[in-house]
Amino acid sequence: MAERDTPYYRRDLALVHHLGFGFHADDCAPGIIELLRPVRERDGVVVELGCGSGLLTRYLVDAGHRVIATDASPAMLDLAKTYAGDASEIRELVLPDDPIPEADAIVSVGHVLSYLPVADAIDRALVAIAEALRPGGLMALDLCDLSYAESLPDFPVRARVADEWAVITERSKPSPDTFVRQMAVFLRNEDGSWRRDDERHENVLIDTSRVPGLLVEHGVRAKVGTSFGGRVQLQEGLHAIVGTKEA
Ligand SMILES: C[S@@+](CC[C@H](N)C(=O)[O-])C[C@H]1O[C@@H](n2cnc3c(N)ncnc32)[C@H](O)[C@@H]1O
Repeated sequence: MAERDTPYYRRDLALVHHLGFGFHADDCAPGIIELLRPVRERDGVVVELGCGSGLLTRYLVDAGHRVIATDASPAMLDLAKTYAGDASEIRELVLPDDPIPEADAIVSVGHVLSYLPVADAIDRALVAIAEALRPGGLMALDLCDLSYAESLPDFPVRARVADEWAVITERSKPSPDTFVRQMAVFLRNEDGSWRRDDERHENVLIDTSRVPGLLVEHGVRAKVGTSFGGRVQLQEGLHAIVGTKEA
């Protein structure tokens, strides 16, 4: 797939995410798989939004689900086609306006909706998810709350270094509802030299306690929690929204 001018997760950061940042999908997978058990029993269709390189997709497919895995980043989708190529479908879907396929479950981890540019766009994506769910369908996703950045350490610059890649991240909160990560991404070339790419990620923080009120207007009863039900609690300020569409 050709590289296009996408704001998030170009080729190098997509690969670094895949190689070094799988822990969130690992943490979320057991709880989500358990929530999805009834969907698997009726062989329902699961749509994954912001699947990235397919880290959660891999768990879902291995658990026997029919998964349509989607993302906005062509580079991420290329990786997903290798890592979870046995999903039913892997394709580009850019929130909030691309249509979401009708589904028995819609899942998303890694605060995908928080990447949308304004709170209104997050609301539109949530409504689109509610509308795409079939009767009795389930939604499970994580979202950054206004409290998200409060839990982060004071020291704003962090580095992670591996043999083949490194990433330096500077975090800031320029306004109460904006969280920014400025990243310098380094990857080793085949000749041993290093190349660099820079990405700036802006996440919009919302008051997640208002999400159930929005969803219920579209037939989904939802709760806001601090985990998907597995043993692992989400990072402070990252909230799980789990809901069911009325039958
Ligand atoms: C932090 S990554 C999480 C990826 C994957 N879910 C995981 O847990 O490994 C956020 C993902 O959201 C995707 N994304 C960002 N904005 C998006 C949008 N407007 N529509 C769909 N996906 C988007 C990115 O391309 C990226 O793959």
